[in-house]
Amino acid sequence: MAEGGINAALGNIDPKDNWKIHAMDTIKEGVFLSNQRMAELMTKNAESIILELEKYGAIFDRTPKGKIMQRAFGAHTYRRTCHIGDRTGLEIMTVLVEQLYKHNITSMSEVFITKLLTNKNKINGAIGIDLKSGKILVFNTKAIILATGGFARLYKITTNAWENVGDGISLAYDIGAELMDMEMIQFHPTGIVYPEVARGILVTESVRGEGGRLFNSKGERFMKKYDPERMELSARDIVARANYYEIFHGRGTKHGGVYLDITHKEKSFIHKKLPKMVKLFKEFADIDITKEKMEVAPTAHYTMGGIRVDADTCSTKIKGLYAAGEVAGGVHGANRLGGNSLIDILVFGKIAGKEAAKYAKKIKLEKINNSKIKKEEKRLKMPFGKKGIRPEKLKEELQQIMWEDVGIIRNEKKLKKALKEINNLEKELDKIGISGNLQYNHSWMSYIDICNMIIVAKLVIESALMRKESRGAHYRDDYPKTNEKYKFNIICKKANNKLKLNAIKVPKYTGIAIKCQEK
Ligand code: FUM
Repeated sequence: MAEGGINAALGNIDPKDNWKIHAMDTIKEGVFLSNQRMAELMTKNAESIILELEKYGAIFDRTPKGKIMQRAFGAHTYRRTCHIGDRTGLEIMTVLVEQLYKHNITSMSEVFITKLLTNKNKINGAIGIDLKSGKILVFNTKAIILATGGFARLYKITTNAWENVGDGISLAYDIGAELMDMEMIQFHPTGIVYPEVARGILVTESVRGEGGRLFNSKGERFMKKYDPERMELSARDIVARANYYEIFHGRGTKHGGVYLDITHKEKSFIHKKLPKMVKLFKEFADIDITKEKMEVAPTAHYTMGGIRVDADTCSTKIKGLYAAGEVAGGVHGANRLGGNSLIDILVFGKIAGKEAAKYAKKIKLEKINNSKIKKEEKRLKMPFGKKGIRPEKLKEELQQIMWEDVGIIRNEKKLKKALKEINNLEKELDKIGISGNLQYNHSWMSYIDICNMIIVAKLVIESALMRKESRGAHYRDDYPKTNEKYKFNIICKKANNKLKLNAIKVPKYTGIAIKCQEK
């Protein structure tokens, strides 16, 4: 689904770029909460990953001299976002899926994992549902890599796919793994505003990267007020809040957005650089973006927080459990640079794969206790045949609460209200009823989703309450300043069946010196 591109300091357009500057930009954008070793690994390995993708057949856009083309993205010192038009993620996915087939790797689609199994703090399996048959599946495993993505679907308006509700986070939390920075949710400045059915869909930052400008309904190019130097290519949190304030203060468009305008560019240029956007707006809103302005507004996009992993191995405190990509926390700190998520998933996916395989070779497979399977099956089937609340209704209520009170602008009052309402929703879980059979039962999936979403939402809110400052994507209007005292990561963990929060100092970086001066 990713559109705009993947970052690597190749220096093809701006020869002064190098991985250290990319690492510095990443850490600064994360407002010094990033794990700097992870930032180093990600940026240093980026070039070889891009070359590997090329070897697999990914065809990146080119400069006239035949080098990989790189475009500007917000808050980067140099142009370093490699891309394939505005459908970069699709191209990467295609070539990687080909590798799966080439290497005869077994993959199972339409399986919903609902529980991880451990024996003495060591992974020995997972339980899931085969959605096609409705049968319960049990996997006896030595190692597991969670790569389940983020949880921005906790929000009503989001760029994320339906399944990004945080099940990976909930699975890890359930077996005692540590989570970090759960309060850090990124709102992308530009999502589609209308029609309602398309609300939240990503309008790529590449539109601004290729010259797109933001205007309010008075025709003012308002970014002059918020960041006169970087304008539309300011940091994502700044542009998202600027859009929010313009709309909030009555300077929005008739559908409740702001205008994004690229009509000053040549039609052929727009078609070449932004083909997906051209198609998207034509199909959904009957708008020709080469002639008309787009209407856009902030949308929940990315979750910086996640499972706490060791930088060099992607392992967790649970033996045999690994995590990579958006489900893992650490590298992006309090905010993520556009284009850094694709490079994150590839660099750390590779590390996690190698390390998990190495670990699995060393240990013996341990048996699964049957009673755990029976218990999970009973939990999963509990609402079947009961007349009661539809799980979809609770999901919608949770998404509304999160959007209204745990969104772009937060404060203690809103967060406490949200927590109370989520606790009330939790009490409704026992009243859920599901009808129909087991095969492809949407309500059944929604039931599992809402159980997970309540857990994840509480981790977000409790962490947001603890962070009494504003930093990166976490903005509190009752504490609008960044406070040095809060330069820590908030760690969440289940202990004695209760959520325990802990503040830990951001790990001191001891590797190659990255001159990253805090201003
Ligand atoms: O705007 C975009 O194309 C998004 C990219 C990203 O989140 O990295």
